[in-house]
Amino acid sequence: MTLTLNSPLDMHLHVRDNDMLKTVVHLSTYSFAGAIIMPNLVPPITTIKALKAYKQRILSSTCKDDFEPLMTLFFKSDYDYEFLKEAKKYISAIKLYPSGVTTNSLDGVSSMDVEKLRGTLEAMSELEIPLLVHGETSGFVMDREKEFCSIYEQFAINFPNLKIVMEHITTAQSVALLDRYENLYATITLHHLLITLDDVIGGMLKPHLFCKPIAKRVEDKEELLRVALSAYPKVMFGSDSAPHPKDKKECCGCAAGVFTAPIVLQVLTQLFEKYDKLENLQAFVSDNAQKIYNFKPLNKKVTLEKKEFIVPNSYGSVVPMFAGEKLLWSIKGVL
Ligand code: NCD
Ligand code: ZN
Repeated sequence: MTLTLNSPLDMHLHVRDNDMLKTVVHLSTYSFAGAIIMPNLVPPITTIKALKAYKQRILSSTCKDDFEPLMTLFFKSDYDYEFLKEAKKYISAIKLYPSGVTTNSLDGVSSMDVEKLRGTLEAMSELEIPLLVHGETSGFVMDREKEFCSIYEQFAINFPNLKIVMEHITTAQSVALLDRYENLYATITLHHLLITLDDVIGGMLKPHLFCKPIAKRVEDKEELLRVALSAYPKVMFGSDSAPHPKDKKECCGCAAGVFTAPIVLQVLTQLFEKYDKLENLQAFVSDNAQKIYNFKPLNKKVTLEKKEFIVPNSYGSVVPMFAGEKLLWSIKGVL
C-alpha cells in the first residue's frame, strides 16, 4: 500500500544554524517542498541582511533544489513601513514572540498592548504580510495559551485585514477562535496530535517530549485531531520540529522542543490511517497552507509505503521523537 503527497509543506520549522543546521536541514529538505523557517536564532533575524545570509546558509547546507525556505523576520514593534516594504520582497511572514516565553525569545515583545504594537501591525496589514504568533502569556503553565486567547481576539478585531496564524495551538479554546474570526488561522504540530501532559510527566519524566506550549489535556488533543483530520481549511501542518543537542535535553534545566523532522510524514500517515482519514492528509500537509499563504510551492511528489521503519536513536547529537521505535510507514521515494 502506498500514498503519494503533493508538495508537502512544514509551516513551522526550526533548522537552527552552523553544525546543527547541517545535521537537521536535509531531513526536511528531502521530503518537504518548503517550510516556514523560524527566526529565533541568537541573535534573532531582524534585518534583511541577516535574513538573506541565513537563507543562503540554509540553501548551501542542502543539495536539494526542490525545497524552498520560506523566510520570516523576528517581530519588533519599531519596524517602520519603509523597512517592511523592502522586507516583504524576501519574507513570507513575521513571527511575534512575547519576551521569554520560549527558546531564544528574550528579544521578543514585553507588552502585548495593541496600541504599542499598532504601528508595525498596521503596516504589515497594509503590506499583506502575515503575522505568526507564539500565543502564550507568562501565567500558570497550563493556562498560558488559554489566557492568550483574548490577545488573539484583540489582534483579530483591530486588524481585520491582517492574516494572523496562531502557531502550534494546543487547546480547544484556540480551535474555537478559528470559527469566530475570519482572519485567524492556526498551525498544529504532530506531537500535539499525539500526546497529552500525561505522556510528558505522568510517569517517568520524558525530556524529549518537553516543549512549549506544553502538551495539554485529552479533550484539547481531541479538538486538534478533529480539525486536522477533517481537512478543516483554517489549520495547516507546522511540525515545530525544534532540535536541541541531547545534553541540553537530558540534563537539569531541559531545553524546550521536540525534534520530529525525520519522522513527521511517516507518523502523520500512520495517524490519518488509524482514523481512516488518509484522503484528508493532503489538505493538512499542503493544500490548506497554499490557500492561506496564497502561494504555489515547488513541485514534489513524496510517496510513502506501508513498510516498517525503525527510527534511528539519534541524528548527530539530536534525539528524535520515537527514537528506536518501529513506525508502520516509511518514505519510499521522492520525485
Ligand atoms: C522552540 C525552539 O526550541 O526554538 N521550542 C519549543 O518548545 N517549541 C521554540 C518555539 O516554537 O516555541
Ligand atoms: Zn517553534
